[in-house]
Amino acid sequence: MSVEARGIRPANRIANLPPYLFAEVDRRIAEKRAAGFDVISLGIGDPDLPSPDHVVAAAQEAVADPRRHRYPDYYGLPEFRKAIARWYENRFEITLDPDKEVVPLIGSKEGIAHIPLAFVDPGDVVLVPDPGYPVYSIGTLLANGEPYLMPLRADSGFLPDLDTIPEAVADRARILWINYPNNPTAAIAPIEFFERVVSYARRHDILVCHDNAYSDVAYDGYRAPSFLEVPGAIDVGVEFHSLSKTYNMTGWRSGMMVGNRTAVEALGRVKTNVDSGIFDAVQIASIAALDGDPHWIEERNRRFQTRRDAIVATLKKIGIDVSAPKASLYIWAPVPAGMKSVDFSLRVLDDAAVWVTPGVGFGANGEGYFRISLTVADHRLSEALERIEKLNL
Ligand SMILES: Cc1ncc(COP(=O)(O)O)c(C=O)c1O
Repeated sequence: MSVEARGIRPANRIANLPPYLFAEVDRRIAEKRAAGFDVISLGIGDPDLPSPDHVVAAAQEAVADPRRHRYPDYYGLPEFRKAIARWYENRFEITLDPDKEVVPLIGSKEGIAHIPLAFVDPGDVVLVPDPGYPVYSIGTLLANGEPYLMPLRADSGFLPDLDTIPEAVADRARILWINYPNNPTAAIAPIEFFERVVSYARRHDILVCHDNAYSDVAYDGYRAPSFLEVPGAIDVGVEFHSLSKTYNMTGWRSGMMVGNRTAVEALGRVKTNVDSGIFDAVQIASIAALDGDPHWIEERNRRFQTRRDAIVATLKKIGIDVSAPKASLYIWAPVPAGMKSVDFSLRVLDDAAVWVTPGVGFGANGEGYFRISLTVADHRLSEALERIEKLNL
């Protein structure tokens, strides 16, 4: 054995993960900052606005209670699971069994990454939207599964065309990921799409995983549905949800998967073996959030909506054809004709010291687009938009 071949070596499943596209970008942003530029990043979907006061107060009280300092329950506090079921009843008129149809998560990302361990054997296929939240593919690869990318195109409203998936692929598929309101395209789905998904999943015995992280970040009076509203959906599917975006609670790490009992039990089995639950104080804070006055959400959404409108107006002024999204924390807009999305983002960085995410970072079918996030403080966003308006594209 040669000297080079010896020593510790990460597994192939790590080596095979796609390269981190943004590593080079991070370097360019850091360089720009080091050169004295005040770079404003419109890249990340992480609300700058605070979590609700009553949530913070509930957590403060719980943190001070020594009974809350011990290992949490594996399946979450029963009160938290009940609060989740209550929230689903109030928000979507869906009745869930808090013991069998609800599993709390350490943020929805954790569950999204782990569900393939419960459903995917090596070589199985997972149907993944492209562009999409990267964890759908990464979780699949970590379970030695094969992602099959379903293109999301503007002319189909950024909904996947299930009829174009070859039968042989569908028959090997174990999970179908969908996500509406969508990241990164900000598209919403009509309930008829969810109906088509349910019948497709029935035909091919596929577990549908609907990621509904943005259901409550919505504008112009739009109310996003739950996938589980479709009759029979619970026979084939689950929904992931998160307190992160709904309540400006990204840092707390709290979310849930609800729906099909077999899936809840299977993910629960994985999780009890790899984690030890969510800090009780976070669960108590989460109950306060879920039981809180829904007007808090409306007020908060009004603030994001003002930002949305300001961004859309500026983009139109510089000749970018974009319409205002009904939901999510993002504006998904086409780059100027003939440009690649990375070149466009780097151009905006160089000329305006503003960072917008190139669409290709979310998958090959994101090429031709860029994404702006609404989660930057108002005065910083105004400054960024002033700079963008002066761009000479
Ligand atoms: C579509 C989507 N799903 C899930 C998540 C994960 O959210 P969290 O782990 O904070 O619940 C995100 C975060 O950006 C997201 O964009």
